[in-house]
Amino acid sequence: MQNEILKIANDTNFFLKKFINSQKKTELINPMRYGLFSGGKKIRSKILIDIGYLFNIKYSTLIIVGAAVECIHAYSLIHDDLPCMDNDKIRRGKASTHFKYGESTAVLAGNSLLTMAFEILSSNYLKLNDKIKNNLINKISECSGHLGIAGGQFLDLSYEHKMVSKKKILEMEIKKTGKLFSFCCVAPLIIKNKMSEEISFFEKIGEDIGLLFQVADDVIDYKGTSLIAGKKTKKDKKLGKATLISLLGYKNTIKYVHNKNFEIKNRLNKYGPKSTHISSTLDYILNRSK
Ligand code: IPE
Ligand code: IPE
Ligand code: MG
Ligand code: MG
Ligand code: MG
Repeated sequence: MQNEILKIANDTNFFLKKFINSQKKTELINPMRYGLFSGGKKIRSKILIDIGYLFNIKYSTLIIVGAAVECIHAYSLIHDDLPCMDNDKIRRGKASTHFKYGESTAVLAGNSLLTMAFEILSSNYLKLNDKIKNNLINKISECSGHLGIAGGQFLDLSYEHKMVSKKKILEMEIKKTGKLFSFCCVAPLIIKNKMSEEISFFEKIGEDIGLLFQVADDVIDYKGTSLIAGKKTKKDKKLGKATLISLLGYKNTIKYVHNKNFEIKNRLNKYGPKSTHISSTLDYILNRSK
């Protein structure tokens, strides 16, 4: 698993470097590179490749779509660490982007990474027809804006120090993290021109995988160590974040994610032996310590 993820990370970074190097140099390139290449598991690309494998999509195509996803993910982390959000100085074991380059530069580098995702998906590097590219851009935009990451981050911040229902916590986690995973699960079906029923099935699978991922991240914050996680832990409590752990307690949260993992795998069983890849990625998501 580790080797597979490492290969995906290397291939994604190779493409992103090529893409950035083909553009005119600017002052924002270094902070953008810093946010993109300072580490990162590239787990969203791994999910994209596992689901793409179910539908026989070319690896090189998936790497390019994944590169766009990783740009959006990197942007979301740069902004998440800002003083007006979670105010974190350490990310991936290094200074967070705003701490190294200053706040305004970090905001602008984040914006530029977000729009770079659309440049990548509309570029000639991606050998797909224009209709499919348009559908991919439409979906990734929806997953990133007020219905997705930005909307979820808004809820995350507005729920601080408040008693919030389980339903609202799940909605917030699905928006801020689940929606980008949902895009990763749906992109292969968009590429294959699948029917809307199957698309909805994978949209929901992706939201649940993202939810699983975010709750596992909340568990790392609760139980993990900063040195291994590469970011400050025990912060959610300090910031008064509404999480499943703060609502249900640690033990019930662990039960919740194990049931969720089991249930997602069951739903994917109908795709036969090919689904073992995505199943082992789900176990990795649950058992990781960073
Ligand atoms: C961290 O995401 C932020 C969350 C959505 C929980 P990752 O854990 O995927 O971050 P990197 O890219 O591996 O550092
Ligand atoms: C971040 O969630 C979700 C994003 C969409 C960026 P967290 O705030 O829990 O992520 P970490 O723990 O700082 O990585
Ligand atoms: Mg946050
Ligand atoms: Mg944070
Ligand atoms: Mg966290």
